[in-house]
Amino acid sequence: MSYEIRPLHTYTGSEVVGLDLSKALDRETRDRLDRELAERGVLVFRDQHLGPPDFIRAIENFGELMEQQVKKFSLPDHPIVGYISSRDLADPQPAAGSKASVRGENYHTDHSNFLAPPKATALCAVDLPASGGDTQFVNVQAAYADLPAEMREKLDALRSRHVFQSSRSPRKFVALSDEERKAIPETEQPLVVSHPLTGRKGLYLNTGRMEGIVGLPDAEAASLIDGLMSHATSEKYEYRHRWRPGDVVIWDNRTVMHKANADVPPDQYRYLYRLMVKGQPLT
Ligand code: SIN
Repeated sequence: MSYEIRPLHTYTGSEVVGLDLSKALDRETRDRLDRELAERGVLVFRDQHLGPPDFIRAIENFGELMEQQVKKFSLPDHPIVGYISSRDLADPQPAAGSKASVRGENYHTDHSNFLAPPKATALCAVDLPASGGDTQFVNVQAAYADLPAEMREKLDALRSRHVFQSSRSPRKFVALSDEERKAIPETEQPLVVSHPLTGRKGLYLNTGRMEGIVGLPDAEAASLIDGLMSHATSEKYEYRHRWRPGDVVIWDNRTVMHKANADVPPDQYRYLYRLMVKGQPLT
């Protein structure tokens, strides 16, 4: 199969044109895509229109799949496949005066409280609203590289504590079953991670799950995290994906952070399949 890879933004995202993901890919193609994913953080494949079995096979090209943490948002016939639906909010009955939070609404990297967070996450568009529901991505390696050398050196030595939902989380996370809650890990992660394939360093941030920085007082840690978050989420590093029917998008959780948008009109429907690829402990 001949195909082309085209950059979508200065730092973030590439579109792969001419590949049919329902067909088997050879080793050379898989290696090239894996490298591009690691470097550019996001790969976009248009016009795929995959059902769950083909979506599973397509994403297995990037590695072994990881189980979904929240089982209630998984397909009964294919439990490895999760889904994102505009009808399933993380917190359907918010306290009076606050709005229902959409899953994935603030910039984050997936499951950072796991010792081995997913290497990659992929979405496959099934139903899309007429407006709203874009996904935004920022390249945390480019953001790190732009920091002054002295700051980079300081950050390289720090580790942060990640829990399921931090006390400073800007949104309420999905309620878990007792069994899921018991299985939830907590861990320390480096504040700067080296990508296992490229060696490039990137900021590792997730306000919703970062409870603090080891060795720093809470207020200092919060101010450092907020400052880094504000720097890393600058428009300069952002690729904004506007979904089209048939899109498959995969991102590398070490190279980018991502966020969903809570702007889908209430009378519209947005539904995507979701898969994760297993990762390794971060260094
Ligand atoms: C997510 O955070 O995984 C969901 C992204 C989206 O729904 O656009």
